[in-house]
Amino acid sequence: MTARVAVLVSGGGTNLQAILDASARGEMPSAKVALVVSSNPEAFALERARRAGVETAVCPRAGRTQAEFEAGLEGVLRAREIDLIVLAGFMTILSAAFVSKYPERILNVHPSLIPSFCGAGFYGLRVHRAALDYGVKVTGATVHFVNEIPDGGRIIAQKAVDVLEGDTPESLQRRVMEQAEWVLLPRAVEKVASEMGGTSI
Ligand code: GAR
Repeated sequence: MTARVAVLVSGGGTNLQAILDASARGEMPSAKVALVVSSNPEAFALERARRAGVETAVCPRAGRTQAEFEAGLEGVLRAREIDLIVLAGFMTILSAAFVSKYPERILNVHPSLIPSFCGAGFYGLRVHRAALDYGVKVTGATVHFVNEIPDGGRIIAQKAVDVLEGDTPESLQRRVMEQAEWVLLPRAVEKVASEMGGTSI
């Protein structure tokens, strides 16, 4: 079985691009990116999806309650018969009620070595700023299952990345993406999809 994957995004979408590129290279035979959903209508990730010929949907977060937002999202996912959900730079925390409907069927990539620099409030450049402020010499990225605890689900894969003298949050973010996130995420999606064995959500 080929798992039908939805990638959820909010911004630039470089992790989405890494998945699309790995898929085009034939490195994800167990998974097909069937849908890209953005919480932000302006996200460049939507353009990346269109260029790759992948269907897109926008579920705006702004101006709606969490329940309204999640009802819309669930409707889109069910209508497209999605098997696996990948959060790739998706900047909205999903409620316990939502994630409990998809046990071990939602993956997230986080730009640190969990349990460091993670949880509510740690996203994007803030994660790298916190790592630099703390003075760690090694950071990295983690792909994990999503449960009701922010960044608290079972870890699927991790990769360490050196912090270098003179790093800024931006330079560190770029190195963590290049050396860890873009490598780990497509591999983790393929691994989970290949182990699903025909069960869908
Ligand atoms: C990535 O670094 C991702 O790990 C991070 O946001 C960036 C999105 O970049 N996600 C989080 O911080 C989630 N807590 P992208 O849109 O270019 O993939």
